[in-house]
Amino acid sequence: MATVKMSWSAVALVGLFISVAPVSAFAEVPGNPDRGKALFKQCSACHQVGETAQNAFGPVLNGVVGRKAATYPGYNYSFALQDANKKGLVWTDALIVQWLHGPSDFVRLYLGNTKAHSKMPIMVEDLQARLDVVAYLSTLAHVTSNPDTAGHDMSLMVAAPKDMNDPVDKLERVKLELVAPPLLPQHEQATTAGPKVVVVELTVQEKKWVLDNDGTEIMALTYNGSIPAPAMVVHEGDYVELTLKNPSTNLMEHNIDLHAVTGKLGGAALTTVTPGNQATIRFKAIKSGTFLYHCAPEGIMTPYHVTHGMTGVIVVLPRQGLTDEKGNPLTYDRAYYVGENEFYVPRDAAGKFKRYTFSGEDLNDWVNSMHSLTPSHIVFNGRVGALTGSNAMKAKVGERVLFIHMQGNRDTRPHLIGGHGDYVWETGTFASPPLKDVQTWFVRGGAAGAALYTFKQPGLYVYLNHNLIEAVEFGAAGHVMVEGDWNFDLLKSTYHGPLKE
Ligand code: CU
Repeated sequence: MATVKMSWSAVALVGLFISVAPVSAFAEVPGNPDRGKALFKQCSACHQVGETAQNAFGPVLNGVVGRKAATYPGYNYSFALQDANKKGLVWTDALIVQWLHGPSDFVRLYLGNTKAHSKMPIMVEDLQARLDVVAYLSTLAHVTSNPDTAGHDMSLMVAAPKDMNDPVDKLERVKLELVAPPLLPQHEQATTAGPKVVVVELTVQEKKWVLDNDGTEIMALTYNGSIPAPAMVVHEGDYVELTLKNPSTNLMEHNIDLHAVTGKLGGAALTTVTPGNQATIRFKAIKSGTFLYHCAPEGIMTPYHVTHGMTGVIVVLPRQGLTDEKGNPLTYDRAYYVGENEFYVPRDAAGKFKRYTFSGEDLNDWVNSMHSLTPSHIVFNGRVGALTGSNAMKAKVGERVLFIHMQGNRDTRPHLIGGHGDYVWETGTFASPPLKDVQTWFVRGGAAGAALYTFKQPGLYVYLNHNLIEAVEFGAAGHVMVEGDWNFDLLKSTYHGPLKE
């Protein structure tokens, strides 16, 4: 066996797998299938096997040894694997061992294309582990499953007829300059102009991200490098031309599902891009409100990406601006956008937060951690303290401030200590009359809400999630520093001292 292993090692190290003679699909692999079966549990977050297997984020792997690349029915393969299929790639055991060492490196070498990219973010360094997994997969050569070819319509185009004269092409085009949260981009609160085409660009950045003051770090997934992603502001009836770019330095597939979009998974089905690609959609903002947007690459990858930071907000203002229950205009002097995110950082055996070196490496651990439904961090604007102290939001007495609060996944209950929500659109729907004089409002997970408050007193206000454990112990809190003169009529101290008789 030792000499056989040597030759397998040589195959793996040399990397010139294309010249390796094909290995029979049923050849004995120098791996341990039982150990491989145990190791495969880590792959099962994305891949199913067995008679009831269905495609998930990855394709069904029954019979993968000996199968032509990119041929399992109903699965939406990467462009790279579709190209490899055209070149005639057939998965032998040796090639899968190579593939597991680095799927994107594999397709680059195979296709001679340095920009090619696989959707699979996992790399397995340990050769014996790869041999064991492939030995296990070889035992599934004759297992059959019924492919589910329905419900996987990821067709990438909804093209208008070529000769269609689109009147929207004649509308004024305006580029929306995005800014980092908690600020909103410059915008008009109301407009008398007709609908425009608002041009927006988002670039996905996979990057290291520190979550707290202890230096707990994750490989975050972000739009434009911030958590939460930048806010967009448009008016009802506008068209949004949105481009999503996925640079080739990234490792994972991404897309965007905006709750303001009608059809095609909120745009996710039209914007799914592997690294080195980009996609553009144009949608009409037909409903006003504060809407969540987030990444939604299918299956377990959707909560995985959302809990790695890929959530943002698009504000669709009524053309006449915000109004009270009688239709009177409500304007604001400032606007802030608080994105609340929760994270599920995996811990090691000693209970310490684990660190990872590339995006996707934490997939299996993170999924296990998510299953607890118990976050490790619940924070405003991406990290503990992002909106406190010198990072506090600012206002002046007499100013009316719009607070938009977004949570992509989990319910929350914003509260301004010592203040109120004068007008609150809890669900974010500006077409509904606002609630008035609310102490604590509810923002359901998967949504964003809005509140207006006119500050009447100066000082430091705490704006928090009024689950006080989540605010104090997990980080879901921020500050508003307000300048101005004190109003003693509203509040004054009349005695503070020892107990009186
Ligand atoms: Cu993503």
